[in-house]
Amino acid sequence: MNPRILLSVPHMGGNEQAYVNEAFATNWLSTVGPNISAFEAEFERHIGMPSVALSSGTAAMHLGLRLLGVGPEDEVFCPTLTFVATANPILYLGAKPVFLDSERTSWNLDPELLRTALRQRAAENRLPKAVIVVHLYGQPADMDPILEACANYGIPVLEDAAEGLGSTYKGKPVGTHSGLAAYSFNGNKIITTTGGGMLAGCNGEWMNRARFWATQARDNAVWYEHSQMGYNYRMSNVLAGIGRGQLEVLETRVRQRRAIAFRYRDAFADLDGISFMPQSPHGIHTNWLSCFLIDEARFGRSRDTLIAALDVVGIESRPVWKPMHLQPLYQKTECFGGKVAEDLFRRGICLPSSSSLTGDDQMRVIDAVRNTARAADMEGSRQ
Ligand SMILES: Cc1ncc(COP(=O)(O)O)c(C=O)c1O
Repeated sequence: MNPRILLSVPHMGGNEQAYVNEAFATNWLSTVGPNISAFEAEFERHIGMPSVALSSGTAAMHLGLRLLGVGPEDEVFCPTLTFVATANPILYLGAKPVFLDSERTSWNLDPELLRTALRQRAAENRLPKAVIVVHLYGQPADMDPILEACANYGIPVLEDAAEGLGSTYKGKPVGTHSGLAAYSFNGNKIITTTGGGMLAGCNGEWMNRARFWATQARDNAVWYEHSQMGYNYRMSNVLAGIGRGQLEVLETRVRQRRAIAFRYRDAFADLDGISFMPQSPHGIHTNWLSCFLIDEARFGRSRDTLIAALDVVGIESRPVWKPMHLQPLYQKTECFGGKVAEDLFRRGICLPSSSSLTGDDQMRVIDAVRNTARAADMEGSRQ
């Protein structure tokens, strides 16, 4: 029996262990230490903005929203098609999310719909405190019209680049366009620290404030003095060592993920009813996950049947994110539009995309998808 092929697994570059060993050898086994400072400095060099290493991408979203002044009863606009960790930090701050649909061309926040929603809110004199943009699956969102729409009303933007590290928009890394962004190093991401995140922002003073909040907001005193509420959100020096090694191979990982996605695309080019996630004309889509849409009538099988067929032969695949406005947690939350996200959720599938996926294993996935389509053909269930 072949081992199960998973969706997205960690892929070490080689130097991680040395940085981790150094942490042990020097006894920096804490949330302070040289790996943390070096990882932040190296990330800052990569992204071009001061950066704060945190325990998760979710923590980075939380601190980012707090920096933007989001508080109780404020509204925050948020794409509905995303992972729940984009929206939950809005609730942490006692604020209210308002969801917005995606555009078909990028699957990300629809700039036209955003413009309409902001115009409507401005007429009612209740503009949101902030807007969140997500770079879904490594696809850069169309930032220029989004930022322009928000600038009209002076509304700040937080980029959720948890899935977008390595992506660019108009030649610059995603996250740098709004000047405030959250990244994730969760175990399934393009690079990982097992768990961890980074908040990066062009305002260095803000990043110092985020670092202060992330370390329990300890005031400058000999005793433990606190004038603000903080969190235990710092990254460990051991995990920062993993991050340093991983950052060294980020470019390679982007190339590998993209090669996997395009190999799938080419292998399915002659199949009816399976279409590749659009690729932004504005930048580099990392294809952190390789995503496709299944048209049941033409493919002959539903998306869920395909997921089940892959599972039987030991291949993990997943539906595209279930939109937030369909989640029981958010069922009473307002949503502008939603039909595009619903359709992408109903028909979207994420295929195994690990940068370490071997050619043979990818062929197993390709064969399994093609066999499912062929079985449908033989039954004559395709139209
Ligand atoms: C879009 C998105 N936002 C936020 C997060 C949260 O990141 P973390 O898991 O590091 O908290 C993730 C991933 O997990 C994500 O996919």
